[in-house]
Amino acid sequence: MPTAIITGITGQDGSYLAELLLKKEYRVIGVARRSSTVNYERIEHIVDDITVVQGDLQDQGSLLSLLEEYKPSEVYNLAAQSFVPTSWNQPALTGDVTALGVTRMLEAIRFVNPKIRFYQASSSEMFGKVLEVPQNEDTPFYPRSPYGVAKVYGHWITVNYRESFDMFATSGILFNHESPRRGMEFVTRKISNAVAGIKLGKTKELRLGNLEAQRDWGFAGDYVEAMWLMLQQDHPDNYVIGTGETHSVREFCEIAFSHADLDYKDFVVMDEKFYRPAEVDLLISDPSKARAALKWEPAVSFKELVTIMVDSDLARLKR
Ligand code: NAP
Ligand code: GDD
Repeated sequence: MPTAIITGITGQDGSYLAELLLKKEYRVIGVARRSSTVNYERIEHIVDDITVVQGDLQDQGSLLSLLEEYKPSEVYNLAAQSFVPTSWNQPALTGDVTALGVTRMLEAIRFVNPKIRFYQASSSEMFGKVLEVPQNEDTPFYPRSPYGVAKVYGHWITVNYRESFDMFATSGILFNHESPRRGMEFVTRKISNAVAGIKLGKTKELRLGNLEAQRDWGFAGDYVEAMWLMLQQDHPDNYVIGTGETHSVREFCEIAFSHADLDYKDFVVMDEKFYRPAEVDLLISDPSKARAALKWEPAVSFKELVTIMVDSDLARLKR
């Protein structure tokens, strides 16, 4: 039975990846940082099947102990301060966790067992003010937020440990992926939750920022499969994962509201508060390398994703 360590187990991707690895008969060790209240909402259905342990990307010793105790063959580093707006309010913390945290994990692997296969959760936010359309593994980076800058560091330190120490260190450059388990402050979930609230008469309006931003949105459940595939290859590498389609926030609103027989124009209010100091206007992936090398294809379409999220929030709010 192979053992995998997942940092960020309490997050959206951590929960889907844990489900996938359990199906593949892994022993799953999930790393959660200590907090005064337990936040296992996304993993409560599998918490008895995995081992949740305390650890923090800001604490080198905790990472070393984890690797020594559980002896994993694979480490998936999904933990991060992942919300872009917060990265302007807490830039130093974002750098410490999202950038330097990657070095701490790589150092722990190098000291304990350099044969451990390592996955780094890199991001399409690294492309930022895009220098090429669509974006592939060779597109230069131009990050637009402290979060994007931190992810560029995390990507390059992963490549550097691969080249310096011959470690199996792989970087998955994932475009936006969403699900009913997405955090409430991200735009897709904010919209699906508001649509459900408005439909059920609990909410009156939805305040949003830039409706023209375009993203390549896929389903998180599909994307964790790509993470696993990357660590099953013969060699470590960098892979872009996305759908190859782009849609605006406005389009997301149109489909989400119309799925509930509502018109978004009656409820969406533009609010300057949600505009960003520097915006990423357009993201669209060229996932051809992943399709050829990993034989990976997303299963859920954009429209299905939107309707799955709205239906899920409707069912939750009705309960
Ligand atoms: P998420 O839901 O925000 O989860 C982030 C996880 O990191 C949470 O479990 C969080 O724990 C944990 N964490 C934060 N600071 C930590 C620390 N100092 N030590 C240990 N754990 C810490 O993010 P996600 O959507 O699942 O994304 C997973 C990873 O992929 C992230 O690195 C993100 O930046 C990256 N990514 C995401 C997307 C996307 O569209 N979802 C796209 C590209 C890349 P708490 O629950 O305690 O906060
Ligand atoms: N969050 C939010 N809230 N975004 C809004 C709003 C709003 O009220 N109104 C408009 N937007 C726009 C943002 O300006 C941005 O252009 C777009 O919606 C998407 O915002 P988010 O859903 O917050 O995601 P993100 O693209 O900034 O970042 C996510 O994807 C990255 C991959 O590209 C996060 O998951 C990152 O962790 C991830 O790396």
